[in-house]
Amino acid sequence: MIEIRARDASGRVTELNINGKKLTTPYLFPVIDPRKQILSIEEIEKLGFNGIITNSYIINQNRELRSRALEEGIHSLLGFDGVIMTDSGSFQLYQYGGVDVTPMEILEFQENIGVDIGVILDIPTEPDVPREQADRELEETIRRARESIKARKKILLSGTVQGSTYPELREKSARKMAELGFDLYPIGGVVPLMEKYRFSDLVKVIIHSRKYLPHDKPVHLFGAGHPMLFALASALGCDLFDSAAYALYAREGRYITTSGTYRLERLRELPCSCAVCTSTTAEELKKLEKKDRDHFLAMHNLTVSIEEIRRVRQSIHDGSLWELVAERARAHPYLLEAVRVALSYSSLENLEPVTKKSAFFYTGSEALLRPEVRRHIKKLKRLKINKKLVLLPEVEKPYSKTYGMMSTEEYHICIASKVFGVIPLEIEEVYPLTQHEAPGGYDEAQINFMKKVVKEYASGFEKVYFHSSLEFLGIEGESFSDVENFKGKNDIEGKLTAIGDYYFGEGAGELLFSDTRARISKTGRIREVYAGDRLVGVIRASDGSVVLNVEGVKRLLKLPFPKNRVVAHEDAVEFVSQGRSLFCGFVEEADMKIKPYQEVIVVDSQDKPIATGRAMVSAEEMLSLTHGVAVRVRHRLG
Ligand code: GUN
Ligand code: ZN
Repeated sequence: MIEIRARDASGRVTELNINGKKLTTPYLFPVIDPRKQILSIEEIEKLGFNGIITNSYIINQNRELRSRALEEGIHSLLGFDGVIMTDSGSFQLYQYGGVDVTPMEILEFQENIGVDIGVILDIPTEPDVPREQADRELEETIRRARESIKARKKILLSGTVQGSTYPELREKSARKMAELGFDLYPIGGVVPLMEKYRFSDLVKVIIHSRKYLPHDKPVHLFGAGHPMLFALASALGCDLFDSAAYALYAREGRYITTSGTYRLERLRELPCSCAVCTSTTAEELKKLEKKDRDHFLAMHNLTVSIEEIRRVRQSIHDGSLWELVAERARAHPYLLEAVRVALSYSSLENLEPVTKKSAFFYTGSEALLRPEVRRHIKKLKRLKINKKLVLLPEVEKPYSKTYGMMSTEEYHICIASKVFGVIPLEIEEVYPLTQHEAPGGYDEAQINFMKKVVKEYASGFEKVYFHSSLEFLGIEGESFSDVENFKGKNDIEGKLTAIGDYYFGEGAGELLFSDTRARISKTGRIREVYAGDRLVGVIRASDGSVVLNVEGVKRLLKLPFPKNRVVAHEDAVEFVSQGRSLFCGFVEEADMKIKPYQEVIVVDSQDKPIATGRAMVSAEEMLSLTHGVAVRVRHRLG
């Protein structure tokens, strides 16, 4: 069972309920070696871990461990009553080329020792093998997956996605695994990519594997133990990680940080303030016996790993996950390359929230590829404005306040923006157009980007004026230096129409706001909008969201079904009409374009409105999940 608690990028914070035990994702399973554990279970629990992963094959192959596990169960064997996941021996298959169990034997063994989550004996295919081999091995993994899910009795079972570095095989694998209905979906066969720092290939594998996996099950990235990858992998929709790295690195004298790894011999300082690092110095650490040194390094390595997982979760709650990804990308040039490759997939926009608690930060040229920027450029096409275009340089925000002007009946005034290309003053308060920050000056990427976006936008206008300071953009039009010439009577109705179209889609603006009257705040912002004495809606001050009221809903419902609607199941109508949240399990149907944190209308199966509210997840997600809030209701109707 999975509930989404917060969304950002294509990632999420979820609450998993596994046999009555709770895990919050993104989550990291520390790998426990039952033969030679470097940290004790108590130490691991004390760091805050309530789930671990170990290897059922290793236990199975060791006579003493096997008989004890079969007798007393895995939880008693390890002395841990949290969530225990076991891998199946697939990794040994990859390391040694063979294993001494059959897929059915190791499945049954995982059942018999009472693990919480087991894994099928999939075949980890190496990167770059001939396609025929990758496909043949994938077919065998699928065959095993089919017989395993049939034979599964009481454990939760993971169906691993394979397919080497072939996007179409990854997609085929994900589709087949999803069809078979597993409880978790690991993405496998990626350890060699990580070992060789092939992060761009890793990103492609994640994106193509994730594409066909369902939203209502956790996705695990097998063998991703280095904390510098957690933010990016989470942003691409991975929920679970496992780390053997904390122990393997410790044994090799390596000290992990989120921005890379140090060799102990080279450490003069301990650049960390975790419990162990504050208890000694680099010099003393080097003098310790190997066993104590390993223990020290493992404690530090695991501490910084869980710390990063917590930071990723916090960033998702804040809406700043892409900023964290950008920060981590500076750890290694190949990681930056991987972020660029990830952002080159326009499909990332599908799950991206429409508004966030934090401002959009321009972190470098990769930010121009972010889904929020692509979405803005796409949504600009919804505006149908038949005026003369005036382009102004950026000033302090809010732009219209600094300039002391708005668009008029005659002039459509836009800011040439180094982050969003073109920002029409009409829509400046809609997230993230005001809620963004960038360094002063222009970088080369911004100049090229602005040229492209401005040129394309301006091509839709017959008459174009641009401020002389924007000459560097090479705009075709008439240059001016005095802004005063374009001031006039503010076009409030034009502004509202643009906000409506931009927020809800083409045509929505006119439907919602024709023959209305707006109350304008002292700072010149539109607040409530009325038709006669009936409230159409409110433009939220913090992010420009259009919060609909009774009259607004009536008007917006003229758009063809199911535009902007979420259809509540019959059994939830009463509940929602009392002003309570609509839960995912009660969503019958929805406009598939609905994004996380968008304002929507909840209707019954006759398309009668029962509430307005904020979608907490995308339409895709609310239809897939059975638990958690789909729409947080603001106003009940009727
Ligand atoms: N551990 C690391 N990679 C893999 C994989 O591809 N499959 C399984 N089952 N375990 C792994
Ligand atoms: Zn430390």
